[in-house]
Amino acid sequence: MSKPSTSKKTASMHTIDMDLIEMTLDVMKYAIHRITNSSLEIGSPKKEEELRRLVGETITDTGIGGEKAFKLFRDVLVKATVPIDHPRHLAFVPAAPTRAAIMFDLVTAASSIHGAYWMEGAGGIYCENEAMKWLVSLTGLPEPASGVFTSGGTAANLSALVAAREYWRKNPEYQNRKGLIITSVGAHSSVKAMAKVIDVDLLLIETEDAMSGDDLRKKIKTLDSDQRQRLFAVVATGGTTNAGIIDGLAGIAEICESEKLWFHVDAAYGGGALAADSVRHLFNGIERADSITIDPHKWLFSPYDCGAVIYKNPELAKNAHAQEGSYLDIFKDEGANGFNPSDYQIQLTRRVRGMPLWFSLATHGTDKYKWAVERGITLANLAGRLISENPLVELVREPSLSCVLFRRKGWTPEDYRDWTYKNQREGFALVTPTKWKQRDTAETVARFCFINPDTTEEDIVAILDTMA
Ligand SMILES: Cc1ncc(COP(=O)(O)O)c(C=O)c1O
Repeated sequence: MSKPSTSKKTASMHTIDMDLIEMTLDVMKYAIHRITNSSLEIGSPKKEEELRRLVGETITDTGIGGEKAFKLFRDVLVKATVPIDHPRHLAFVPAAPTRAAIMFDLVTAASSIHGAYWMEGAGGIYCENEAMKWLVSLTGLPEPASGVFTSGGTAANLSALVAAREYWRKNPEYQNRKGLIITSVGAHSSVKAMAKVIDVDLLLIETEDAMSGDDLRKKIKTLDSDQRQRLFAVVATGGTTNAGIIDGLAGIAEICESEKLWFHVDAAYGGGALAADSVRHLFNGIERADSITIDPHKWLFSPYDCGAVIYKNPELAKNAHAQEGSYLDIFKDEGANGFNPSDYQIQLTRRVRGMPLWFSLATHGTDKYKWAVERGITLANLAGRLISENPLVELVREPSLSCVLFRRKGWTPEDYRDWTYKNQREGFALVTPTKWKQRDTAETVARFCFINPDTTEEDIVAILDTMA
């Protein structure tokens, strides 16, 4: 029998040869240099045409070779990105993955593990579940609460809302009805976007400050009977993205319990602070949630992308998410028995993205995590003090978690914009403005969000000096 003919070019992609060894060494050298570089530059975006002019065609019929492609990335393309772990990157929600977690992300990729089902991924899923147990313990949710890692907060919020909606729809009366969710103006944009994805209506409580149980009670009272029947969930925020504000979780839990509503807490950003003894009490009531989002890629020092969704009753999530298909039956067979992460969120094939968090937690221990999160809170309070002492600037509100909103006296929105661009262009810092809404006015203000424990007092002073 003649052997099937394979073109040399196709076969060589998977061949182990000197080129492969050299490329591997280049990658490892780059990774070691990157994670030990303590003088990172803040990059600036370039126009697409400019990048094309600098790197030329990279995808060709015969390939440009790993050495060249890598050089283009290292010398040109990566310089048009902002290292999110730069100590003066205080915009949006930055990140600061531990070096252990980053290196284990390489190991995760190299291990080629399918993270959907225990049958294929048991060892990796075991690691994830160990890290998850710690996350769940931070929330105080009782047994049998558990969760899974997702691609981020958006996917976690979506997974939780689908579980809530499917649970509500168990009642035949609601099977063909459009659901309704209540949240507040302070909720993250992803909650509003995911409500659209699952085609449910959303009612907003008009506050960017903490939403309370009373606010919720009053809002429910305004609903007509159709709306009240369609209302199935409330989304509270455990650390708003804009200002680090935590809703009145205990009061909201109370109302959700008495009104039989699913209580979801989006703690994608703030969830890391559950580890911080100094602020843990602010989250009281979270242990009564039906589901919780926490993003380890925000304030738990994991590389992108790693979110998590936790359920008080994981069976309800399984009822909503477990996929059916004859090709999948074997995974559910006794012989392949174990925890199948795909049954609890929207994604089937998945990277075992909780593994870097597990390795870093196992390496450093949870005390170091507590310390590193507390450091973000300390930096926010320090920035608050420095702002109060500086006559050019003033606090818009007291720092909350690791967020600080402040104004530069006399500045227009354009001044904030120009200041942001200038700092970025000069490779110095990335600090962006936001808006703070009080009643009907939305004022443009500056915002710090601290995640990186390596940020120093000198960094904060130097950034404030750029506002002079
Ligand atoms: C409170 C909150 N929820 C959800 C998200 C969305 O998370 P991701 O960007 O990981 O999808 C964010 C992102 O900043 C957030 O701060």
